[in-house]
Amino acid sequence: MREIVSIINQKGGSGKTTTAYALGTGLYKKGFKVLFIDLDGQANLTSAMQVIPSKSGILDLLTNKVRISEIVQKIAIGDVLVGSEDLFQADMNVVDVGKEYRLKEALADVKEEYDYVIIDTPPALSILTINALVASDSAIITSQAERFNSSGVDRISKVIETIRNHRNKSLVIKGVLLTRFKERTRLNRDFAKLLKEFADKLGTKVFKATIRDSIVISEAQAKRIAIFDYAPKSNVTEDYRVFIEEFLQ
Ligand SMILES: Nc1ncnc2c1ncn2[C@@H]1O[C@H](COP(=O)(O)OP(=O)(O)OP(=O)(O)O)[C@@H](O)[C@H]1O
Ligand SMILES: [Mg+2]
Repeated sequence: MREIVSIINQKGGSGKTTTAYALGTGLYKKGFKVLFIDLDGQANLTSAMQVIPSKSGILDLLTNKVRISEIVQKIAIGDVLVGSEDLFQADMNVVDVGKEYRLKEALADVKEEYDYVIIDTPPALSILTINALVASDSAIITSQAERFNSSGVDRISKVIETIRNHRNKSLVIKGVLLTRFKERTRLNRDFAKLLKEFADKLGTKVFKATIRDSIVISEAQAKRIAIFDYAPKSNVTEDYRVFIEEFLQ
């Protein structure tokens, strides 16, 4: 096991799922063994993959009703714990003492089977995201370049701080990844300063790699093909390649 990584941002549509999928498939293509975990009731990561849709089982896992080995699906690019709608009920169901540690405990049983575990999280700071961060060695915060602003930043910083102080001291924030970067997005001085302040606050960096906006992303998702196969030469695929190199440094 090298690393358990969560992709986070409580803001919807910031590129979490796209990044989780690209990172996981990119690592698989480099020869690593990958477990994907779709912790989102929207199950967008699951929809983008060629898996047999089924009831997730993750909620049962988080309430100690099943073991992780009973719900892992094997697919061409690795293993996956699929997401499903019942995850929207997680905050009402995952309530017992130690509820923040369920995913960490579950992963302890299987982590030696993988090089990387990539966790896609929902757009909320719910018990699911808490479980993800408690179980993780590191987190990546994705942010749509044009929508980055300081609102939301404080909330996510506080949650990370609380987790580091009380539940997972060794959690590393690997960096902030700017996604859906449009040519007209200007990395002007104010924006760069804001980003740096945010990253500093979390003791992290802004990834040098940025992910451009491209129609290829939604096309590949609709066809359920990884971008590295669907459009290996496109700009956005190259951006994710550069990001993965930076991730691995
Ligand atoms: N680089 C990109 N270029 C173009 N479209 C993109 C790009 N990245 C993501 N998208 C599109 O933007 C939408 C949101 O992306 P994504 O699902 O990855 O975000 P998310 O943070 O997981 O959203 P949610 O919070 O709802 O789970 C999707 O329709 C996706 O196809
Ligand atoms: Mg998503």
